[in-house]
This record gives sequence, C-alpha cells and structure tokens, in this order.
Amino acid sequence: MADRLLVATLLVLLSLPAVAGKNLYLEQVRQSKPDAKMLQESREKLQNPPPEPIKEPLAVPPFHRVSASYTGSTGVLCGVCHKNPPHRKHEEKRSFLNFHTTFIACETCHWRPDNVQLDYRSIKVTDEPEVDVDPDARKPLIKTGFRIAPFYKETPITIVSNHRFAQKTARQWEDANDESKVALRARLHAPLVKDKIECMDCHQEKNSLLNLKSLGATQEQQHAFVYNPIAIYIDKRDIDKNTKPMHLTDLLE
Ligand code: HEC
Ligand code: HEC
Ligand code: HEC
Repeated sequence: MADRLLVATLLVLLSLPAVAGKNLYLEQVRQSKPDAKMLQESREKLQNPPPEPIKEPLAVPPFHRVSASYTGSTGVLCGVCHKNPPHRKHEEKRSFLNFHTTFIACETCHWRPDNVQLDYRSIKVTDEPEVDVDPDARKPLIKTGFRIAPFYKETPITIVSNHRFAQKTARQWEDANDESKVALRARLHAPLVKDKIECMDCHQEKNSLLNLKSLGATQEQQHAFVYNPIAIYIDKRDIDKNTKPMHLTDLLE
C-alpha cells in the first residue's frame, strides 16, 4: 500500500514538469557551476557598485508613459537586485534602453541562447495603471504592464516578482554574506548576455528578432518599427567609438 502510494506520488511528481513546462533559463541557472574567473568577475562587480540610476524627464510622446513606469519596480526577477530604470552605462543609449524596459522583458535582450528556437509574445508582469496616452500619438503596441518576453516550448522565460523563484532569490540575496552574494550573482548571470543585441536586430523588416505582425501590430506600427530613424541613427553611430555629443538635429541628416 505504502509502496503504491509512493509510486503514485512519484508519477505525479514526474508528470508535473511536463504539464508546467520547463523554464530553460531556470534550468541553466540550476546547472551552472561558475568557475574561478566568473566568480572573480562577480566579486569585482559587487565591490564596485554602479552609480544610482538616472531618472531623466522624458515628456514627449510616446515616452511620457515611461516616467510613470519608473516609479515602481520592474515587476520581474531581475528587479530583485536591479533598480528601475536599470541602464546607466552609455549616456546616448540608456534612455532608449530604459524606455524599452517598459514594454520589453529583460530576458528578450539579455537571454539569447544559441541554437534554441524561441518565440516572442506579450505577457503581463505588473499591475501598473493604464496611463492616458495622447490621443494624437500613435497607439503603443504593448499594453501598460505587459512585456514582450521569450517563450521556449510554450513556457515564458521571464519570471515575475511573485514567482516562487523570485521570492526565494530575494530572501537569499537579503540573507547572504558577501561571498554568497558573489556566487548567487554569478549563477543567475551565467546564462545571460551583456550586450549581444543592437537596435537593428529588432528594428528591421526581414530578420527581426520580433515578429511584429504576430504581436498584433497594425500596418502603421510595423512601418514605424522598421523605419525607425532613431534606431537607424544610433546603429550607424557606433557609440563605443564615437564620443561626440549627440544632437537631435543629427537625426535630420
Ligand atoms: C540576486 C541579484 C541579481 C539578480 C536577481 C539579477 N542581477 Fe543582474 N546584476 C546584479 C549585480 C549586483 C550586478 C553588478 C552591478 C550592476 O551592474 O548593477 C549585475 C549586473 C548585471 C548586468 C551587467 C553585466 C554584468 O555582467 O555585470 C546585466 C546585463 C544584468 N545584471 C542583467 C540581469 C538580468 C537580465 C537579470 C534577470 C534575468 C538580472 N540581472 C538579475 C545582481 C542581480
Ligand atoms: C531592448 C533591449 C534591452 C532590454 C529590454 C533590457 N536591456 Fe539591459 N542592456 C541592453 C543592451 C544593448 C546593453 C548594453 C548597453 C551598453 O552597451 O550601453 C544592456 C546593458 C545592461 C546593464 C549594464 C550596463 C548599464 O547600462 O548599466 C544592465 C545592468 C542591464 N542591461 C540590466 C537590464 C535589466 C534588469 C533589464 C530589465 C528590467 C534590461 N536590462 C532590459 C539591452 C536591453
Ligand atoms: C528586442 C527588440 C528591440 C530592440 C533591441 C530595440 N527596440 Fe526599439 N522598439 C521595439 C519595439 C517592439 C517597439 C515598438 C513599441 C510600440 O510601438 O509601442 C520599439 C520602439 C522604439 C521607439 C519608439 C518608436 C515610436 O515612435 O513609437 C524608438 C525611438 C526605438 N524603439 C529606438 C530604439 C533604439 C535606439 C534601439 C537601440 C538602442 C532599439 N530601439 C532597440 C523593439 C526593440
């Protein structure tokens, strides 16, 4: 009897992952064994914390809905440790990257595994109230509180703040001593990439990472997405090598 119960329990347990679907990022985190070099890198990052995030006023449509989103948390696992907005490094890119985090999940840009077939769909991550958008401005593609996230085998990769794993990570981070923080950070970042994505990986027609049509974009939204003068300009400029200040008039060249 006890045996049968055990077998039945095991069968139920074994069948759970198939029903819930595996989160490939979490699998990678669980399996990651950071080496000495990765741990040293993690240690250095923790010892030299970056400056506080910048909350620049962005009052022009479609950007004005951003300031509302910056007041809360990111609503996702990454926000356990990263402030909102998260990008600070390049003055010229960060406003654009930060503005994208209000409708694109971190993992869409920072989790780019090789040779894995992914889909990108919209999922709900926060309960931000709908912000009034200027009726004359083009309608945003993604609703407030939603993000475009990677899906692997029908499972969303993005982990929202109230997910068990995010809550466990928050507790671990709070209780950790310096060396445990180094190890935890290294494991969580092992599957991630820093800067493997460019504006033009998305803002183009033929080989875009995102299928705008399947995300529900209208013709007008698709056109604006592909022929995005700012993305095209930033891409041409190669910010790493170009330290000249950027002027809005440059966009008209
Ligand atoms: C447990 C804490 C923690 C979590 C959770 C976390 N990070 Fe980090 N991350 C850090 C720390 C600390 C740094 C180093 C300081 C900094 O750049 O903010 C960092 C740095 C980074 C960097 C800069 C590159 C690098 O390797 O230093 C990226 C990109 C990044 N994190 C992305 C993410 C993404 C995406 C997620 C969610 C999937 C995430 N992080 C979740 C703590 C965390
Ligand atoms: C639209 C794509 C995109 C999204 C969405 C995105 N990132 Fe990034 N992120 C980048 C790129 C590109 C870089 C490299 C930036 C650079 O070179 O200035 C970067 C750099 C970073 C860095 C280190 C450099 C810096 O600017 O401080 C951190 C930390 C980071 N991202 C965290 C996050 C977190 C957390 C989220 C989600 C809340 C997120 N990112 C969402 C594209 C993105
Ligand atoms: C992961 C894909 C992705 C990447 C990478 C990306 N974008 Fe975008 N971007 C989008 C999507 C999707 C929209 C459409 C949002 C909407 O219409 O609501 C958008 C919208 C914009 C807009 C607003 C257009 C408008 O008029 O509404 C600007 C400006 C922009 N992106 C610039 C950039 C720049 C500059 C970069 C590089 C630093 C970049 N994007 C990288 C996906 C991306």
